[in-house]
Amino acid sequence: MTLSKTQTQTTPTQIRLNARPKGMTNASTWHITQDAPPALEDGDLRVSVEYISVDPAMRGWLDDVRSYLPPVALGEVMRASGVGHVLESRSAAFAAGDAVFGMTGVQSEYVGPAKGFFKIDPRLAPLPTYLGGFGSTGMTAYFGLLEVGQPKAGETVVVSAAAGAVGSVVGQIAKILGCRVVGIAGGADKCRAVVDEFGFDACIDYQNESVAEGLKKHCPDRIDVYFDNVGGKILDTCLTRLALRARVVICGAISQYNATERPAGPSNYLQLLVSRARMEGFVVLDYAKQFPVAIAQMAGWLTDGKLKFSEHVVDGLDRFPEAINMLFSGRNTGKLIVKV
Ligand SMILES: NC(=O)c1ccc[n+]([C@@H]2O[C@H](COP(=O)([O-])OP(=O)(O)OC[C@H]3O[C@@H](n4cnc5c(N)ncnc54)[C@H](OP(=O)(O)O)[C@@H]3O)[C@@H](O)[C@H]2O)c1
Repeated sequence: MTLSKTQTQTTPTQIRLNARPKGMTNASTWHITQDAPPALEDGDLRVSVEYISVDPAMRGWLDDVRSYLPPVALGEVMRASGVGHVLESRSAAFAAGDAVFGMTGVQSEYVGPAKGFFKIDPRLAPLPTYLGGFGSTGMTAYFGLLEVGQPKAGETVVVSAAAGAVGSVVGQIAKILGCRVVGIAGGADKCRAVVDEFGFDACIDYQNESVAEGLKKHCPDRIDVYFDNVGGKILDTCLTRLALRARVVICGAISQYNATERPAGPSNYLQLLVSRARMEGFVVLDYAKQFPVAIAQMAGWLTDGKLKFSEHVVDGLDRFPEAINMLFSGRNTGKLIVKV
């Protein structure tokens, strides 16, 4: 799977789905091709892909089950968002040299419809930021928290996977809004980053301490908003500590994405009744029309020094198979990105 530097620079390279995984992906999940891209047709772009977003949702796209997007087909280039520069355009909306964001796939060169691509401004932020803070993870944090969580100043917000791409931004926005913010993350180093770098009030190390005890200690007024990135036992424990009229935001359930058996449901769900609480899922794509508004507001917070984005960059397209599994073993802090 390793490519020489000359190959990666000169030959378009694609990472395709070879076999549907059971549990974690492994080397046999993928196969690498160096196919010449098709000729451009009217309305198409040729894009040099420079950075690719690595997302937990990718694991779900590999399973042949009903979801909010169809599964990636066997032999197809792995679906991914990416950023890069237009090399050639047959679309009136783009010109060679434009920096763009779009569903490029896990490949070094995209050739296909310009539909769904949009221009990005490298003077406003470096390209990787458009996959992280100004990309779908930042948008997920923004709309999931504000639209579904609806936090108010003085309320307590708890966030799991708090050192991750979405979680770290959720906590910072909740702090900007005047909330008390408690993170849940794996390991002492991550918890330190959550408090010292991202400014949360406290962080519970779920790998080394009891989440139930941590919530009692750090959420004396219980939880008004629980932003759930992980599902499973952590979700179940948070349900036992909800405040009256709490909101539970179902953003993701990363603890379950590699499950080979049907996971148990949250056994404490009746706490929603006791607390007159609400649990609601959302998909960030539903807010796409409002992304420019969110980006403008987040850019302001960034300039004012109230918000910071953290990126974890893995160098080399051929390291995508390793990178996707880093999400599930917690080896990333901040937004995970592959540099092509
Ligand atoms: N609803 C939407 O539209 C939408 C859009 C984007 C993302 N999401 C969801 O948002 C969540 C976070 O995504 P992200 O891109 O920001 O990833 P991320 O948080 O940057 O990375 C994933 C993190 O999850 C944690 N984790 C992995 N396995 C775990 C387990 N078994 N139990 C508890 N924690 C575990 C790890 O952190 P620790 O080391 O702390 O365990 C890991 O670093 C995911 O569930 C994703 O599917 C939803």
